[in-house]
Parts: sequence; structure tokens; C-alpha cells
Amino acid sequence: MRKIDSDSSRIWVDFLGGLSGYISSTNDEGWTIGDVLFCEDGKPPEKVTGELWDAGTEVGTIKHTTPTRVVIEVDGKLRSFAQRDSSPLVEGQTVEIDHLGRPRGVLSNKPIDRLGVLDRDIFDIESLVVRPEDNEVTLDDFGGSTRIVKRAVDLVSVALDPADLIKEIGAKPIKGMLFTGPAGTGKTFLAKALANATKAAFYNISGPAIVDQFVGQSEKRLRDIFEHAGRNRPAILFFDEVDSLYTRRGSGNHEATNRLVGQFLSLLDGFTSFDQVIVIATTNLPSALDDALLRPGRLAHKLEFAPSDTDSRVAILKASSRRLRFSEAPDLHEIAGLTNGWTAADLTAIWTEAAILAALDRRKALCLEDVREALPRVQRISTRHETSERDRDLP
Ligand SMILES: Nc1ncnc2c1ncn2[C@@H]1O[C@H](COP(=O)(O)OP(=O)(O)OP(=O)(O)O)[C@@H](O)[C@H]1O
Ligand SMILES: [Mg+2]
Repeated sequence: MRKIDSDSSRIWVDFLGGLSGYISSTNDEGWTIGDVLFCEDGKPPEKVTGELWDAGTEVGTIKHTTPTRVVIEVDGKLRSFAQRDSSPLVEGQTVEIDHLGRPRGVLSNKPIDRLGVLDRDIFDIESLVVRPEDNEVTLDDFGGSTRIVKRAVDLVSVALDPADLIKEIGAKPIKGMLFTGPAGTGKTFLAKALANATKAAFYNISGPAIVDQFVGQSEKRLRDIFEHAGRNRPAILFFDEVDSLYTRRGSGNHEATNRLVGQFLSLLDGFTSFDQVIVIATTNLPSALDDALLRPGRLAHKLEFAPSDTDSRVAILKASSRRLRFSEAPDLHEIAGLTNGWTAADLTAIWTEAAILAALDRRKALCLEDVREALPRVQRISTRHETSERDRDLP
């Protein structure tokens, strides 16, 4: 029962199956809105007690929100309502509809349809967490850039220290680092090695994993991740290619981007209470980042990765080959001399190319000839790093 006419001549009802209509009745029984009636042709309607028969309520999905209105889809039809003042409804939520057709309680933060909770909205934070035992990259695998590695290890160990001496001293907490530098210079690799070295929970967060089509959902995911990490510390929140959080900028969806970036900034500002959590972000487009991100108290510690010099190349070649089997050890200084301008990624690709040659030859160890032949093959693959200088250096 939905409504009684003011002169009590008609009672408006929703029938099972979605149809609505009225019953002519003076309502002598004194029924009220929300009562469940049993109607049979030619007989006066009868009230059924709730315990006997729960007629259920309707359910709708929030399709769109503005600061003042929400659009809800109920049974394939769209309806618009005033937005709630307290705890505003968020796109994607499933709500219960009251007997006047207005949204009442939130049943789920995800859309529910006839097939159940929609897959596309299942967001599992646990799947972002790389446990220390599943991360095989160690600091020993990382060669070169000693200054950067030392600085990063220092920052992370102070930030994740349970004694929290920085706070004791009264200084500002270390909240985050930003790794910048060209592709293949080891930014992602070092972050993984740091996680391993500190035995911290490592949250591998990519833009696409959290950017959601539903307004408000992405910010919520971000908040959930920060909260989760706060409960699971020590933790490293790793935003690889953080500029991808900004990918929507310029594509006509400024509002969504700005809100997400705004949420990110306010979470960074807010997590002073989360001792033992640090954010590591990487980018090879630092100029694309919002300046606000680099302010003190946010990702204030910037480490710049550069293509390696000769000594670093030797160190990278050494670290990346330490688990390889050789029938004769190659001269790493000689290779370093031939690979001016190569990134760490290019250098490690030498071993892969050499291993392919050895495997094709049915051998279980690399010989000098494999390594020699591998060099020009790598050069062909990573054309993105090709420089005239490097062409000159090659045999
Ligand atoms: N210092 C290093 N020592 C040994 N191997 C390294 C080093 N740096 C990078 N590598 C190797 O190069 C690969 C690529 O490096 P990584 O993915 O960290 O580059 P990146 O800087 O994150 O690049 P992008 O900007 O493209 O994401 C790594 O998987 C690793 O095998
Ligand atoms: Mg990377």
C-alpha cells in the first residue's frame, strides 16, 4: 500500500510484478502506508501481517550524481532525486527504495543486478599486496646507482622504523619518495628490492587498478588502500607510473581526475598517524605531475635515476648475472665499455639474448661467444634508447 487519497476513496497499491493501481475502498480498517494487502476479485482486500508475507521493497542502482541530485535506475527506469546531505550517495551503490519510491538505506557499495554483484566492480585490495615471501628481488640484484640506493634505503628504514624516532625528535614524518628517470633505469626494480629488504607489505597500485568508471569509486578505493595499509604496517604504498592517475586529464574528464588527485593529496596529508607507512611513486614524466604532489610533507624526496655511467654498468652487469651459469666468465668491463648510453633494462637483456643463443645450441651455460653475439641483438630490440653516441661505441 503506497498512498491513500485524501477523501479516503481510493487506496493506491503496488502489485507484485511491478504494476501499480488502486482499489476503491474507504479504508474503514485504518490501514497505513506500507501495509501488505491480499486482493482477490470480488472480495474486499484483507491485510496480511508482515510476518506472514514480507512483500519486499524495491532496489535501485545509483547511476549518476551531481552535488545536489542523484539518478537511480529502478527496474530499468531512471529516476532523479535530491542528493542526501549526510553521507551522500555514491555512483555504483545499490540502495533500497522506500514505499514512496525514494532511496532509503544503502544495501551495497557495488551495483547488484539480476546476475548478482557485477564483476566489474569487485575490487580486492588483497590482490594488490605483494607479500615479502613472494617478492624475489633483493638489493643484491640491484647494481650501480649506489648514492640513490643508499638514500632510498635510509629514507625507507627511518620511515618504517617502529621506534619512530623522527616523531620523537619532533621533525616532520617521511611520507613519500618520488623516483624519476627514463624508462628502464630501475625505478620499479629498486622499489621491489626495498620492499624485500624491509620485509614490509608492498602494495602495488597502478592507475588502471583504481581508476573506476563510477564517480566517487576511485577515491573510495584510494581511501580503502591507505586504511588497509595503516592496519598492515610496516607498509610501502607503491604507485608505479603515478602519472597514470592523471591520464584522464585533457580527455574531457577534468573533474574526475582532479577529484582523484585531490583525494591522493589529502590522504598524503592525512596519514601522519600512520607511522610505518611510506609512499613510493615513480614516473618518467615528472613534468606531467601536479606541483602540489612534490611539496614538503608529500612526495618530498625526489630521487633521479639516470642512464648509467661505465662503473654503474659494470655493477648492473655484475648484479644481473650473479645467478647465471657461465662456461667462461665474460669481461664485464669490456661489455660496459661497449654499451655507453644503455639503460639497466638494456644491459640485463644481454643475458636473455645470450641465453637464447645457448639454449638454441642445447647448452646449459653461457659462453663468451653467446655474450658477444647477444650485444647487437639487444641493440636491435631497444631502439627507443638508441643514440648516435651508442652507435659509435658498438663494434
Ligand atoms: N640497477 C639494476 N641492476 C640490475 N638490474 C636492473 C637494474 N635496474 C633495472 N634492472 C633490470 O631492468 C629491468 C627494468 O627495470 P625497471 O622496470 O625497474 O625500469 P623502470 O625505471 O621502472 O622503467 P619504466 O619507467 O619503463 O617503468 C628490471 O626488471 C631489471 O631486470
Ligand atoms: Mg617502471
